[in-house]
Amino acid sequence: MHNNSQHDAIPTQHILKLSAEQKYHDELQRLKEHDQKRKPQGWQLSAYAVRDFILGNPQLNIQKKFYGDDALVDRALVTLMGNQGLMLVGQPGTAKSMLSELFSAAISGNSQLTVQGTAGTTEDHIKYSWNYALLLSEGPTDKSLIPSPIYFAMQQGKLARFEEITRCPPEIQDVLVSLLSEKQMMIPEMGQDFSVSAQHGFNLIATANLRDRGVHEMSAALKRRFNFETVKPIQNRDFEAELVQLQLKQQVGDLFSELTVPPQVIELLVTIFNELRTGQSLQGANLKTPDAVMSTAEAVNIAHAASLQAIYLGNGVLQAEHIAQQLIGVVFKDNPEDAKRLRYYLDSVVKERARKDKDWKAFFDASREF
Ligand SMILES: Nc1ncnc2c1ncn2[C@@H]1O[C@H](COP(=O)(O)OP(=O)(O)OP(=O)(O)O)[C@@H](O)[C@H]1O
Ligand SMILES: [Mg+2]
Repeated sequence: MHNNSQHDAIPTQHILKLSAEQKYHDELQRLKEHDQKRKPQGWQLSAYAVRDFILGNPQLNIQKKFYGDDALVDRALVTLMGNQGLMLVGQPGTAKSMLSELFSAAISGNSQLTVQGTAGTTEDHIKYSWNYALLLSEGPTDKSLIPSPIYFAMQQGKLARFEEITRCPPEIQDVLVSLLSEKQMMIPEMGQDFSVSAQHGFNLIATANLRDRGVHEMSAALKRRFNFETVKPIQNRDFEAELVQLQLKQQVGDLFSELTVPPQVIELLVTIFNELRTGQSLQGANLKTPDAVMSTAEAVNIAHAASLQAIYLGNGVLQAEHIAQQLIGVVFKDNPEDAKRLRYYLDSVVKERARKDKDWKAFFDASREF
């Protein structure tokens, strides 16, 4: 298995979360070997190969990773080739971060050049800072300068990622305006005109969560430097079920051989998430949507926890009552309003189905205890 140099000492199977370029090293290698198409300057793969990496290619045994909106991937690729940055916005858990990681792993071979936006993000985190001991002894030199991930990405011609950009104060976000339009970073400490110029291949992918401080607070100047793409929750239940199965298998790992996952239980889980998320039952009844995040990522977490329960505390068969216990115990217990909304859902939608279907009945019966 591939190791990058900073991790050489740690066998990768012990690392809890690998970077995308480590996790998919073999896939990326195969794509590189078969890539006949023209590569944009500074990219390590063609746009075709990047698309295959994200949307899958059965012939090359490349797994599909992003479900639901193939056209978004194409538009994002076009943006990344151009002069504007890519801004992925959407509800929590819609795979914004995952997409930005996959794009940077495929395009630059490095998804780690990342700035994490917080209320405490400063200009230094975006540009550079100094090693003060060296600064005092040597002055402002290459050695005393500590580059930010974005500095490094410009210098090396790679993609930089900016996670949760709207959590930063707007005046800090605006540091990006000149970087993105001039494609260079001034370093006045090293001389009046001293700057680092971005190499081909440099661009920025930012993500913003619609539940945080609004994107509308972003300055107009910065907005113009980005193409916005809204990433929506998966609407197709079959896709979502397929994804939950796949990710459950990955998360459960070696224990998967001890687990039986009946497809109808996954379908039940996905249906519940879909109905509560959209505020509509499959039969068209209106429901109140809970405040709790009902994303696919949450559905996978529930399936995972329920599976552990089935393996360690049950007979290894994932059942609807495991799902009920995890869902209600974990997602809904802290918010009384949500509990009421869920109760309404149970009494109006689930109860009816429980009459005809044993899994829905098991779910309904288990959820009564809460
Ligand atoms: N359309 C989708 N295709 C594939 N995976 C998805 C999709 N939607 C959600 N997921 C799953 O959800 C996980 C969580 O996604 P991620 O952390 O990237 O979300 P996010 O949009 O960045 O959320 P947040 O706004 O909370 O940061 C992904 O790793 C993936 O497993
Ligand atoms: Mg994210």
